[in-house]
Order: sequence, then structure tokens, then C-alpha cells
Amino acid sequence: MVHAHAQVDQPVTLGITPTGDLDGASRHYEKKLGDMAGVYADETAWQAERSVNGDDSLVYYVNEQKYQEGPGALIVGTSVLLPGSYGNEFAVTRGHLHGVSDRAELYYCLSGRGVMLLETIDGDSSAIELTAGQAVNVPGQWIHRSVNVDTEPFVTLFCYSADAGQNYGIISDAGGMKNLVVRDDAGWRTMPNPRHTGYTVGVTQ
Ligand SMILES: [Fe+2]
Repeated sequence: MVHAHAQVDQPVTLGITPTGDLDGASRHYEKKLGDMAGVYADETAWQAERSVNGDDSLVYYVNEQKYQEGPGALIVGTSVLLPGSYGNEFAVTRGHLHGVSDRAELYYCLSGRGVMLLETIDGDSSAIELTAGQAVNVPGQWIHRSVNVDTEPFVTLFCYSADAGQNYGIISDAGGMKNLVVRDDAGWRTMPNPRHTGYTVGVTQ
């Protein structure tokens, strides 16, 4: 028997734990210390960390479920950013603007304490602290990166359009994001990144 809706994808359940395990993930990738060249403002501190812990030392990992294709589909995943610091700068993910830059994203904190660092190419900036149970709705046009400002893994659930893609070059071409999240008596604060040269409009990758 041919059902009238045989081509419709079926709803699926995803098991998600506070530590970021994702039952149903279709992809897992890791970023290690050796992958983070040029990411941290304090090059010397990053090199020192490499010599102590090695290039295979884990910085963060991502589990994601890419279930459907196309502009109406969602990618759902978890990001686990380990604690650490490089000089006074806290551990970060590489960060990106979506390749389709108007695509928004939800980040929901499952555990730990971190900051979503957000900037636009037009000069707007924001830094939003997240602890378990809090989320940030990141609108389109915002460059975004996670920062771990605590001593436990910073674990988030994310969800965004499957056609969004990631433009990492917009950050690396600018010498890093405009602001850094650094250690402070109060826990953390932002400060200007001395290496930042300004975002270049029109960079595609
Ligand atoms: Fe994103």
C-alpha cells in the first residue's frame, strides 16, 4: 500500500543530557589546541599551552543532528566548551557569521557558565552570560562565539537553519573579534582586542 504521505520525514526524538550527550546525533567533531591558531589574542600564551598539553588537547566538541536538507530544515546540536584560559582570555569557540547571514540561532545553556559574545560588522556588540536554563536568541547578522568563564564545561544546545552555513573567515580576516572576554575580579569582562583590524564587508569564507 502506498501511503499518500510516504515521502514526509517522520518526527524524531532526541535524547539530550546536561553534559551534552545527544542521542540521535549524525555528526561529531572536535576542535583541539592545534586547530586554534590565530584564535587567541595572546599568541605566547597559546604556544605555552601547546607545549604543556600538546596540539591534541581538546578545546571543544560538537554533536549535531542534521536531519533534513533545505531552507526549512533545522540543525540541532550540543556544544561542549572545556574550561581554560590563554593569558587573561577565557577559552572560546572559533566563532562565525552564518554564510547565509540573516539566519538566526538559538543557544540554550544545559550546564556550566559561559558568555555568548556577539558582534555585527556594523559595530554593534553584546556579551550575554548564560547558565543552565537560560537561552539567547541570536538574530541574523550577528557574529557569535561561545566563551567559557567558569571551571566546568560550558554546555549549550543550539538550533539553526540547515542552510545557514558558517563563515569563519570574517573573524580570522579581522584579526579576531572586536572584543575579548577576559578574567576579572567580578568573574569576567569584555575588553577591546588590540589585534582587531575591523570587519571586511563582503567576505564570503
Ligand atoms: Fe551559528
